[in-house]
Amino acid sequence: MNAPALLAQVRAHGALPRHVAIIMDGNGRWARERMLPRPFGHRSGMKAVREVVEGALEVGVGTLSLFAFSQENWQRPADEIGALMSLLEEYIQREADELHAQGVRVRFLGELDRLAPAARGAVDRIMARTAGNTRLTLNLFISYGSRAEITRAARRIAEEVAAGQLTPDAVDETAVAARLFTAGEPDPDLLIRTSGEQRLSNFLLWQLAYTELHIAPVLWPDFGREQLYEAIRDYQARERRFGRVSA
Ligand code: IPE
Ligand code: IPE
Ligand code: MG
Repeated sequence: MNAPALLAQVRAHGALPRHVAIIMDGNGRWARERMLPRPFGHRSGMKAVREVVEGALEVGVGTLSLFAFSQENWQRPADEIGALMSLLEEYIQREADELHAQGVRVRFLGELDRLAPAARGAVDRIMARTAGNTRLTLNLFISYGSRAEITRAARRIAEEVAAGQLTPDAVDETAVAARLFTAGEPDPDLLIRTSGEQRLSNFLLWQLAYTELHIAPVLWPDFGREQLYEAIRDYQARERRFGRVSA
């Protein structure tokens, strides 16, 4: 089925995910299949990012979260990391005006202090520029690891308790969630992982507790609007029980 037909089905069904998260995987394999160096796969993956942002705007999803670079990805070869960081700056430079014009609030979540100064500057500028937009929140996870995020929240809570600003009884799930990078955002309703891999790779371990999972076989550079709409159709056929019995 083509994209407009799928979009019509998604709309007819009604129940939309408020928040869609995606583990964008398979750029390296996409390049290898074409006998190209891995950075070509990452470059081609930028097109897919544009597609899913457009698709999310079209459907009316409120929040789109994309896992772009993990804490563990810092262990990749220096030239690949360099290529990814340049692509990040290029993406911001190329897309900032349009994202802003479309009403997208762009946020970067992760250990941003590890970014090179030029990349960090670009990230800070687009976040400040688009902070007031409300049509779509685009969360880009960079230098992000979920265990580190939860550990950081625990450390903050310990510091606040030690300083007498928080009592141990006030440490509940809301208090933990409020100290994660995603504080104030709804949990993802739908998680998509591309390239057929069936694991979370340290992404949003806390936030995905009751998220519906969709594994797409295509490699990330081949993912587009149609695949996004298919994933949402799949989500719309699920019954979310949250531990209760069926209605
Ligand atoms: C996803 O593609 C992008 C990043 C993790 C930065 P990969 O680079 O992991 O591609 P594969 O998994 O090697 O094919
Ligand atoms: C997860 O993909 C991280 C991102 C997509 C940014 P990886 O390719 O790094 O994950 P593993 O190593 O296959 O689990
Ligand atoms: Mg991978």
